[in-house]
Amino acid sequence: MEYLALGVRARHNGIEPFSAECFGCAEGGLISADSTSKLMPRTVLVVDDERDNNDVLSSLVQARGLDPVQVFSGAQAIAAVAERRPDLILLAPTLPDMDGFDLCDRFKRSRETNLIPIVMVTAQADAHKRASGVRVGANGYLVKPFTPAKLHEAMDEALAWHEEHQQKGTTGEIHFDIRSELTFLAEANDMLADLFAHTPLTERQIKDLKQAIMEMGGNAIEWGHRKNTDLVLRITYRIDPKAVTLIIQDEGPGFNPRQLPHAASEEDPIGHIEIRNELGLREGGFGIMLARGMVDRFHYNSRGNVVTMIKYIDPPPAE
Ligand SMILES: Nc1ncnc2c1ncn2[C@@H]1O[C@H](COP(=O)(O)OP(=O)(O)O)[C@@H](O)[C@H]1O
Ligand SMILES: [Mg+2]
Repeated sequence: MEYLALGVRARHNGIEPFSAECFGCAEGGLISADSTSKLMPRTVLVVDDERDNNDVLSSLVQARGLDPVQVFSGAQAIAAVAERRPDLILLAPTLPDMDGFDLCDRFKRSRETNLIPIVMVTAQADAHKRASGVRVGANGYLVKPFTPAKLHEAMDEALAWHEEHQQKGTTGEIHFDIRSELTFLAEANDMLADLFAHTPLTERQIKDLKQAIMEMGGNAIEWGHRKNTDLVLRITYRIDPKAVTLIIQDEGPGFNPRQLPHAASEEDPIGHIEIRNELGLREGGFGIMLARGMVDRFHYNSRGNVVTMIKYIDPPPAE
């Protein structure tokens, strides 16, 4: 596995930067546009040491018209990924020689394998592992027991993700799964800052992005998760030739960002203060307005639990 030596601080355990400066660099391991893959049946690496599980998964893969490759250990998985370049990996959380979450982390941190989608097939009891500290996450999690339809759905989503990024020319995408505590949010933010450092963003822009992440991540923890530390907040970092995109997703109910009498708006930055007093809310109400002002694009999904922030890499595209 080839880690790109771009001077990542050792403190962060070798998070590999997806450098915008590296576009087109030959040995940078940019996504190979393997146009032939469309003609050949796509391969799915099934990594599970329990033979029965592995067989069931593999036959479901086959039922979807895809080509399963069965392996039973972490070492076999690493070799198979290098050799076969699978289109998708289905990964069990425990393997005889390795922790599945660590293996996922390893594939996702490597530039060469970053864009291979990974779906982790876990038992409910493994869910807590996802929620420990800061993890580099899989594309999807399928909790056992699952129906064939659910598995196919997860596979389709993961494959669509891959295709979309190939079309867009995304250089890299990494998900951080973060247990809902501010210290872990800050830790993830430091890792992100290391990634930003390898883009052409200025120091000022990086500072802005860090603050926007703290505000929006803080909202996810405080409002989305109501400080339930078992819930997982996900930050996606995506780099493509034009922009850095950050997506912050919580597991909460969401909200309507157009109906926030207790928060500041550009038009009326202080009118909400009295309303907050009446509602007995702590001082504040500036986070969304601040974060919005620090990026080039800012929007919520319709539920209000996913916020997307985009910072364009110079020069910004015309409106
Ligand atoms: N992820 C979220 N889930 C649910 N509600 C949210 C979320 N993010 C923000 N909100 C709502 O938006 C309001 C404004 O957020 P913000 O501008 O950061 O101010 P503050 O956090 O100080 O209240 C919050 O008070 C909350 O009601
Ligand atoms: Mg806030």
